[in-house]
Amino acid sequence: MKVSVSILKEKDNIRETIEKINLTDADYIHIDVQDNTYTSNSSFPVSDFNDINEYNNKKLDVHLMSTNLDSLIEDYASINPEYITFHLEATNNPYSYIQKIRSYGIKVGIAINPETDINDVVEYLPYIDLILVMSVTPGLGGQSFIDNTSYKMEELFKLKERFNNYIISADGGINDKTINIINKYVDMVVSGSYITNSDDYQNQINLLK
Ligand code: DX5
Ligand code: ZN
Repeated sequence: MKVSVSILKEKDNIRETIEKINLTDADYIHIDVQDNTYTSNSSFPVSDFNDINEYNNKKLDVHLMSTNLDSLIEDYASINPEYITFHLEATNNPYSYIQKIRSYGIKVGIAINPETDINDVVEYLPYIDLILVMSVTPGLGGQSFIDNTSYKMEELFKLKERFNNYIISADGGINDKTINIINKYVDMVVSGSYITNSDDYQNQINLLK
C-alpha cells in the first residue's frame, strides 16, 4: 500500500512537517490546493513551495480543489509533481485538462466526490494514471470516512480488468480502522490528520501499510 501524506492540517508549518515526513518511508506528499472556488477554503498558493526542493525528498501528489484549472496546473507544474489531480465536477472539459497536465510530462489524476457516480468517470479512465475517490466532502482535513464510498473503489478495482492504466487512491478519513474497509481495492491512501496529529509519523504509516 502506498501512503501519500496530506499536509493540509499543517499548512502553517510546511517545512517542519515535510522534514518529519522525510524521515519516514511515506511514498508521497499530498498537497491539497484550494482557492475558494470549488470549496470554501483556501490553502497552498504555489508560492508556499518556492524553496521546497531545498528540503523535501519525497515525490509530490497535487490535489487541485478548484475551478481555476488553467492557472493552477501551470503554477503547480513548476514544482514538478509526479501527479496533478483535478476534480471531474470542476470542469466541463476534462479532456483538455488531461492533455494540459500531460503536456508537462506529469501524470494525470481525476478526483470524484462522494456523491459522484462511477458512470460519469468511466469514459476518462483509459486516459488517466490515477483515480482519486473522495471518502469525505472536499475541503477540510479531520473528517470522518463516508462508508458508502467504498463500493466505488470496488467497482473501479473491477474495471481494472478492462483498463489497466490507473491506480486507485482514496482520500479522506483514512486511519488504521477505515483502511480495512478498502485495502483490497486501493493502491494508495491519502492520510492527513491520522499521521500529522501523531508524535510518531512512521508508526502510523506502518499501521496503514
Ligand atoms: C480533503 C482533502 C484531504 C484531507 C485528508 O478535502 O482532500 O486530502 O486533507 O485529511 P484527513 O486524512 O485528515 O481526512
Ligand atoms: Zn486531498
